[in-house]
Amino acid sequence: MNLQEKLVQLREEALVKVQASATLQELNEHRVAYLGKKGPITEALRGMKDVAPEERPVIGSLANEVRDEIQAAIQTLQESLEAKALEEALQQETIDVTLPGKKVSLGTKHVLTQIMEEIEDLFLGMGYQVVDGPEVELDYYNFEKMNLPKDHPARDMQDTFYITDEVLLRTHTSPVQARTMEKHDFTKGPLKMISPGKVYRRDNDDATHSHQFTQIEGLVIAENITLADLKGTLDVFAKKLFGAEREIRLRPSYFPFTEPSVEVDVSCFKCGGEGCNVCKGSGWIEILGSGLVHPNVLEMSGIDSTKYSGFAFGMGPERVAMLKYGIDDIRHFYQNDVRFLGQFTGKGQ
Ligand code: DAH
Repeated sequence: MNLQEKLVQLREEALVKVQASATLQELNEHRVAYLGKKGPITEALRGMKDVAPEERPVIGSLANEVRDEIQAAIQTLQESLEAKALEEALQQETIDVTLPGKKVSLGTKHVLTQIMEEIEDLFLGMGYQVVDGPEVELDYYNFEKMNLPKDHPARDMQDTFYITDEVLLRTHTSPVQARTMEKHDFTKGPLKMISPGKVYRRDNDDATHSHQFTQIEGLVIAENITLADLKGTLDVFAKKLFGAEREIRLRPSYFPFTEPSVEVDVSCFKCGGEGCNVCKGSGWIEILGSGLVHPNVLEMSGIDSTKYSGFAFGMGPERVAMLKYGIDDIRHFYQNDVRFLGQFTGKGQ
C-alpha cells in the first residue's frame, strides 16, 4: 500500500472512530492516537523521504488535508459533547423553587412537665414558693417527721425501696413539707409552698401503677388556717385545671400527717356530674389527698401548734393528665414514644 492509500485509509478509520466517541475522554484518546507526535500521520510523513520528489507536494498536502479533517471532526464532536455535558449538569442541578420546604419537626415539653408547669404557675400566682427536695431521702423525713413512726401500720400504704435502714427513695413529696417547715421564719410571713418531683414505690408496673411517678405537694401554714382555706384554694385549682364550671367536694379520709384528712373530688368534666364512663357513674372524680396539718407534724418541726395551723395536699400529675386527656395507661408517660408525646404540643390546651 503506498503512502497515499495509507493516508486515505487512515482518514476513513479515524473519522469512523471519532464519530463513534461517546465521551470527551474517549475523544481525547483518539486525538492523541491519530494526531499526536507518535501517531500514524506523523509516522506516515516520516516515510516521505522514500517518495519521489515530484510526488511529495501532493502527498504533503494530502497529509495536511487528512489531519485537518480529523481535527475538524474532533472539534465538532467535542463541542457537541461539551454542550451535552453542560446540559446534563444543568439538568441535575436544577432547583425547583416551587417545591414545598422540608418540615422541621420541633420537640415539645413532656406532657407531665406541661401539667406541672401549669400547676406551678397557678400557685406562684397565689404567692406560693416552689421548693425542691431530695429523691434519696431519710426515713426520718419521709416517715417519722410525717407522723409515721417506725412500725406504724400506715407505712404499709407506701411500699418502699430502702437503700439502708435509714435511707430510702422517697415514697411521696410530703417529706419536703418537714424540710421546709424546719427552716421557715414565721416573722417574715406565712409559709406557702408547693413541691413537684419524682417519687418511688415498690409496685409492679401496670396500667395504673408505676415504680416511679410524680407528685406535687402543697403546704400552707399561718395563723387561723382552716378547712375553708383549703377548700377555697382547691376550688380555684380545680376550676383552672379542669374548667370554670367544675365543683369540688371533700370526703373524710385518713392520712397520718393530717387531721382531719380529706379526699378531694372534682365534678366530672366529661358529663358534668350526670355520671359516665370517666367518673364511673358517680359524677365525681377523685383528684388528691389533703387535710389540716396534724399538730404532731407541726410540733416535730418546731412550730407551735397552738398558734399556727395549716393545710396540706398531695396530688399526682399523671392522674391529672390521664383524666384531662383520657390517657388509659400510666406507662405511656415513661416510654417516650414520640407518637404519644407529639400529641401534646402545649398549644391551645
Ligand atoms: N403523701 C400522700 C400520698 O402520697 C398524699 C397526701 C395526702 C399528701 C394528704 C398530703 C396530704 O400533703 O395532706 O399518698
